[in-house]
Amino acid sequence: MNHIAYQQRRSEIAHYFDRTASAAWARLTSKEPLGRIRSSVRQGRSQMQSTLLSWLPQDMSGLRVLDAGCGTGLLSCEAAARGATVLAIDLSPTLVELAQERLQREQPHLSGRIDFRSGDMLDEALGEFDHVVAMDSLIHYSCDDIAQALAHLSRRTRKSMVFTFAPRTPLLAALHRVGRLFPRGDRSPALEPVAQEALHSALSSRLVSGDWQAARCHRVAHGFYTSQAWEWTR
Ligand SMILES: C[S@@+](CC[C@H](N)C(=O)[O-])C[C@H]1O[C@@H](n2cnc3c(N)ncnc32)[C@H](O)[C@@H]1O
Repeated sequence: MNHIAYQQRRSEIAHYFDRTASAAWARLTSKEPLGRIRSSVRQGRSQMQSTLLSWLPQDMSGLRVLDAGCGTGLLSCEAAARGATVLAIDLSPTLVELAQERLQREQPHLSGRIDFRSGDMLDEALGEFDHVVAMDSLIHYSCDDIAQALAHLSRRTRKSMVFTFAPRTPLLAALHRVGRLFPRGDRSPALEPVAQEALHSALSSRLVSGDWQAARCHRVAHGFYTSQAWEWTR
């Protein structure tokens, strides 16, 4: 991993999600009404969330899950509702605080199962996990940094890693030219579209333990939302 490039990108992402876009992100992940574009993003995200959850066991009792880049904690809550113990971490203290507030308000019975933290998902002190979920939290990193991040996480993961990447497609390129999720002043750090073959080869060479393999893969393309889910298992 190019540590300087990773840290620079990480600090842009932290600033963006913690300051510039935290209110927009809070709204996107709530039940409040949205305009057409963001509404299509919310629907696409919901499909993506269902896809990732469908790749995790129905009964997660006794399993420890890392929600890497948890945002407002949507996936963490679903995993906890299935019985998992969740460590939910995000670079943005504002989003983590919001996630905690929502949990207390809407599903207080799950609060003992989710440990919310603000920090870097790659922190080794977080310990070991059965499953790692990273929904749209690696999409702003280069192909090489995504592979390195997953290689780090793989050493502490027993069963599977399910994550998304921004697929390199002509359609996505066109959508980016036409418009973006947020108005100009709020623009996010650029997405890093990644070719699946390139990510496959970067991951294959970095998952050194050798017992990791690519499994299910599914693209969600809905309105202004496009993202590709991928599962890697031991
Ligand atoms: C697009 S949001 C998705 C949030 C959540 N996974 C969801 O789908 O609702 C990406 C999140 O990843 C977080 N993130 C990016 N890089 C991270 C890192 N290295 N460690 C922890 N969080 C990170 C960002 O702060 C941001 O909240």
